[in-house]
Amino acid sequence: MATRKPISRSGRFQTGPSEEVRAYSESVSFDWRLYRQDIAGSIAHASMLAKVGILTRRERDQIIEGLKQIETEITEGRFTWEPDLEDVHMNIEAALTTRVPAAAKLHTARSRNDQVATDMRLWVRDEIRLVQTRIRGLQRALISLAERTRMHLPHSELRFLPIPGYTHLQRAQPILAAHHLLAYVEMLERDFDRFVDCSQRANVSPLGAGAIAGTTLPINRSFTAKALGFHSVSNNSIDAVSDRDFIAEFLFSAALSGIHLSRLAEDLVIWSTVEFGYITINDTHTTGSSLMPQKKNPDIAELGRGKSGRLLGNLMSALATLKGLPMTYNRDLQEDKEPLFDSADTLTSTLSVFAGMIDATNFNQEKCLTAVSDPTLLSTDLADHLVRKGVPFREAHHVVGEAVKLAEQKGRKLDELQPSEWHHIHPLFGAEVTKCLNVHEALCARDNLPGSPGQKQVEKQLAFWKKKLR
Ligand code: ARG
Repeated sequence: MATRKPISRSGRFQTGPSEEVRAYSESVSFDWRLYRQDIAGSIAHASMLAKVGILTRRERDQIIEGLKQIETEITEGRFTWEPDLEDVHMNIEAALTTRVPAAAKLHTARSRNDQVATDMRLWVRDEIRLVQTRIRGLQRALISLAERTRMHLPHSELRFLPIPGYTHLQRAQPILAAHHLLAYVEMLERDFDRFVDCSQRANVSPLGAGAIAGTTLPINRSFTAKALGFHSVSNNSIDAVSDRDFIAEFLFSAALSGIHLSRLAEDLVIWSTVEFGYITINDTHTTGSSLMPQKKNPDIAELGRGKSGRLLGNLMSALATLKGLPMTYNRDLQEDKEPLFDSADTLTSTLSVFAGMIDATNFNQEKCLTAVSDPTLLSTDLADHLVRKGVPFREAHHVVGEAVKLAEQKGRKLDELQPSEWHHIHPLFGAEVTKCLNVHEALCARDNLPGSPGQKQVEKQLAFWKKKLR
């Protein structure tokens, strides 16, 4: 192959940049990942140039043919990237130039400023599709774990596994494990929607903005926008070449998704301790200790939790780069790529690994049932019972607190207080207290409250999600 010459320098330069400067400023070592988008953009641009009469049809066809060849070579790993050619755009254009004479006309009415903005928007748009597929995958895994918490006990009508719900990491009230898992499905759904939103805002064509001020040549911006699947063209050439909001939005959406994954990881880490013992994560997604033979560590959950730090860092890095940039394109903007690529890779891999980890996770029914059988978890329901009999809630709250204290003093469980003791605490406490202190009853009492852990509600939610995620 003929050696490719740098094409970025005009006739005004006498020497090239120094070796050190070239190494410092090259971006092809990471922006090569834009090659598909760069080639798609160039094909659209060449087609448009032919349509408005700047290229002949023959020139257009040769350019497109050459670009497609280059794309295949890159995909198959047969293309040599040259750092001296700085970036993906110039590597591809230089390669084209050695093959197709008309290649010298391709950059007509285009600047690398609108070119890179176009590539980045296309890349973000494409990557969002992958992120969304992975979000759906994890949602499905969560739903299927929720399904695995269905149970059939001989002497109980509980159909879903209950666990203690926590606030302040202190046992609060009984919930269903499925309800807890569905909370993550909801979070992931908001993440999904944020990416939809981000994709829509990214989906505007900057092509034709040129370096900053458009062009005097008779180009057709709608043509290229349509060819690339953009829904519209940018309104302002200055904004078009300097805007990286869509990257900041992607990074924010990724960071928030990462935080959701990190919270999920934290629950899994806690639940898999001997102290809790609510879940077991299979060997495929846990590791051993090099020193302590008995250990099974939730490393994968921990790694995911740790990687959320990178997602946050990448967002901060991009925002800091954008802050204080004067209009319009500044080379600082080249720094948008590494955080973007890193966040995309980190998020997509974490979503996928987490889906596998959830598939490899199961609840330990016995442990959960024992934990949830603590009757004090139903203190609030007991207070509600007095409320139904006309006692103001604040007073009922106080009264139940006294019952908890009394049981503690006597070294008994709350449901082991005698009828006379209940009556002494409050005359409105009767035999029905035992019913109030039953987990199944407590959950049934929530069956008609939308959004609550009642079994009917959870059944409804599961049906909704299974249909949606089908
Ligand atoms: N590699 C550059 C970037 O990522 C491409 C645009 C360069 N434009 C320029 N005027 N030097 O930002």
